[in-house]
Amino acid sequence: MIHLRPATPHDLDLLRRWDAAPHIIASKGTEDWGWERELVRRPDWREQLIAEVEESPIGFIQIIDPGREDSHYWGDCPTGLRAIDIWIGEEAYLGQGFGTEMMRLAIDRCFSDPSVDGILIDPMASNARARRFYERLGFRFVENRSFGHDDCAVYRLDRGNWQP
Ligand SMILES: CC(C)(COP(=O)(O)OP(=O)(O)OC[C@H]1O[C@@H](n2cnc3c(N)ncnc32)[C@H](O)[C@@H]1OP(=O)(O)O)[C@@H](O)C(=O)NCCC(=O)NCCS
Repeated sequence: MIHLRPATPHDLDLLRRWDAAPHIIASKGTEDWGWERELVRRPDWREQLIAEVEESPIGFIQIIDPGREDSHYWGDCPTGLRAIDIWIGEEAYLGQGFGTEMMRLAIDRCFSDPSVDGILIDPMASNARARRFYERLGFRFVENRSFGHDDCAVYRLDRGNWQP
């Protein structure tokens, strides 16, 4: 059973350790997420969550409103969207269904707001396994798009394609 809880400044070392893990560098590069700065603030357009299995932290999920996020990473966006980032930091927990469970919880969380009608994700175009993972959850490919130096594949899940 997965439990999601808010990330706090106490998670700083954990998140840095995960950032340095080879399987995480392979999927999201070495981009600096500015944890020290970000973990102390809770803007209302973002949730940063730690996924725990039996109180042991295994992964991270970020949910943002891409239209209101302050760096405008996604560019101009209509209202009614959310964007999710997800990773399992503890390598021993990969490939056992935990990611699917984490993603289902995150998606339910997004769609529990009746104003949300779509969810975006942007795996690296080369991350074939993550792309298959999202496709199995019902995400549909939208377009290839460069974010900074990363070639990404944008996917979207519409509320109508989701069975809670
Ligand atoms: C993508 C991820 C969240 C999926 O969670 P998971 O618990 O491993 O996945 P599940 O057990 O629920 O489902 C298995 C599927 O996950 C994906 N997966 C498993 N290991 C993976 C890995 N090291 N990297 C990427 N995807 C992986 C595959 O699609 C796998 O299906 P397959 O065996 O048919 O290829 C997780 O593998 C992960 O964090 N990977 C590394 C970071 C990453 O790629 N994050 C996504 C960035 S957009």
